[in-house]
Amino acid sequence: MHKDIEKIMISRNEIAVRVKSLANQLDKDYEGKRPLLICILKGSILFFSDLIREMEIPLEIDFMAISSYGNGAKSSGEVRMIKDLDRSIENRHVIIIEDIIDSGYTLSYLKRMLYSRHPESVKICALLDKFERREVAIEADYKGFDIGNEFVVGYGLDYSQEYRNLPDIGILKRSVYEK
Ligand code: IMP
Ligand code: MG
Repeated sequence: MHKDIEKIMISRNEIAVRVKSLANQLDKDYEGKRPLLICILKGSILFFSDLIREMEIPLEIDFMAISSYGNGAKSSGEVRMIKDLDRSIENRHVIIIEDIIDSGYTLSYLKRMLYSRHPESVKICALLDKFERREVAIEADYKGFDIGNEFVVGYGLDYSQEYRNLPDIGILKRSVYEK
């Protein structure tokens, strides 16, 4: 285990099983709809690439980058778009793929912004949900795991851009961010 990790919260095997079942569910719900899956950079890249590999229906992908955090472990409530989609989403079935919902600011901003572009539908698929921390009302339509109020890294999730490459999701030692 990495020296900065307190303990593993969700192992790579547990993640793989859950991702496969989310993919099966999406295959059923979006049969014949050719959905557009949007990867929210950077935290969602591993979840996104595993999820789409498990899906079998025809689909398209695009990428968007949003920032709400700066480099800290707490949300600023301030959301900024860093990279927009390449193509129009008009009349498309859009699925936002996000790593984690925390305060909810990022996704509520994103959902509002995407809806203004006249898609056919917008749903949210989030790997992790820290529901205790919610400040704005927003829920995932598809969800991997509910987790408690702990700062986690790995499987795409970072602290100050580090730890994204760890294959399991682990709780970061407090000493790393409480200096
Ligand atoms: P929200 O706008 O507060 O919902 O923040 C969502 C974003 O905060 C996520 O996309 C992550 O980038 C980041 N985030 C929230 N909690 C964690 C965590 O425990 N580990 C790593 N990133 C987190
Ligand atoms: Mg993120």
